[in-house]
Amino acid sequence: MKATIATLAGDGIGPEVMAEALALLSAMGSKYGHEFVTNEALIGGIAIDETGDAFPAETQRICEQSDAILLAAVGGYKWSDPSAKVRPEQGLLKMRKHFNLFANLRPVKAYPALSQNVPLRPDLLENVDMLFVRELTGGLYFGERKEMGDGDDAYDTMYYSRPEVERVAHVAFRAAQGRRKKLTSVDKANVLASMRLWRKTVTQVHEDYGDVELEHVLVDACTMHMLMRPASFDVILAENMFGDILSDEASVFAGSLGMLPSASLGEGRFGLYEPVHGSAPDIAGQGKANPVGMFLSVAMLLRYSLALEEEALAIERAVDAVLADGARTGDIARKGEPILSTKEFAQAVIAKL
Ligand code: IPM
Ligand code: MG
Repeated sequence: MKATIATLAGDGIGPEVMAEALALLSAMGSKYGHEFVTNEALIGGIAIDETGDAFPAETQRICEQSDAILLAAVGGYKWSDPSAKVRPEQGLLKMRKHFNLFANLRPVKAYPALSQNVPLRPDLLENVDMLFVRELTGGLYFGERKEMGDGDDAYDTMYYSRPEVERVAHVAFRAAQGRRKKLTSVDKANVLASMRLWRKTVTQVHEDYGDVELEHVLVDACTMHMLMRPASFDVILAENMFGDILSDEASVFAGSLGMLPSASLGEGRFGLYEPVHGSAPDIAGQGKANPVGMFLSVAMLLRYSLALEEEALAIERAVDAVLADGARTGDIARKGEPILSTKEFAQAVIAKL
């Protein structure tokens, strides 16, 4: 098949992991006979420097003409002044909103080969395999907001409408049907009105999915249950900010934040794919970044936007295989283990395909 992919490398370690993603796409194209046309565009801090806008019009145009977007990371010290008018993260938030990518899928699993890296008892990690479905275009991130300005107060609002909760709940229930048929809906219904609407709506949507077991968990309790019984979770549906926080917590099970991929989807096949990790400015430009989150994001792109399931599985299996062989970047290496550079690790995965 022929597909067009917008590639947005962004800042920090972004360009390093994107370079490897492009190598992976080209290897996949040759092996499976696909033509992946990639078009680079600016996002984040580098876009601010060059155009004054974190999500420039030209980038929007390139993305609109693509089948999917692959993004690496945005942000860095240079642009981190909290009083700045334009910030790199705005690029990401604008894109999610512009393309109506309301469902953010973040799979997390524990790798037996990395269990020594996880500060939890190994027996708790057995069979840890969860999928976060984070609502991505509403909630606390997109409700009415007052910036500080010159005044002494500011606020953010957690707002949801019923249709916003319904559509993401359907995504989560359908995902659960294809997995272990359990859905945990996270809220704070004991305190927040928007979260009472959330719980009520999810309960109603559940009526269409009799084969899925639904549990409601308060977000504070959820952070604790995730550490006490991580293997008992299957699909976890959460409000935008709750999903942001919980998915970082869950990254511990995978051994490193550098391991996690994500897909942000709307109603159709179009999607935005990015590793969950950030731009890691402390290690940028040193070849130390872990490319796994990025590679697994490429796999998700092939699966969800291009319906190339076999190709997606091939990438996931190759990653598992090199980890089992002992390949390690610095973030997942134990004391004394040899450390591969971003490129060396990526090449090992590509060689396995
Ligand atoms: C994420 C990130 C973003 C978010 C930031 C960079 C805006 O933390 O994708 O999880 O909060 O959504
Ligand atoms: Mg986050």
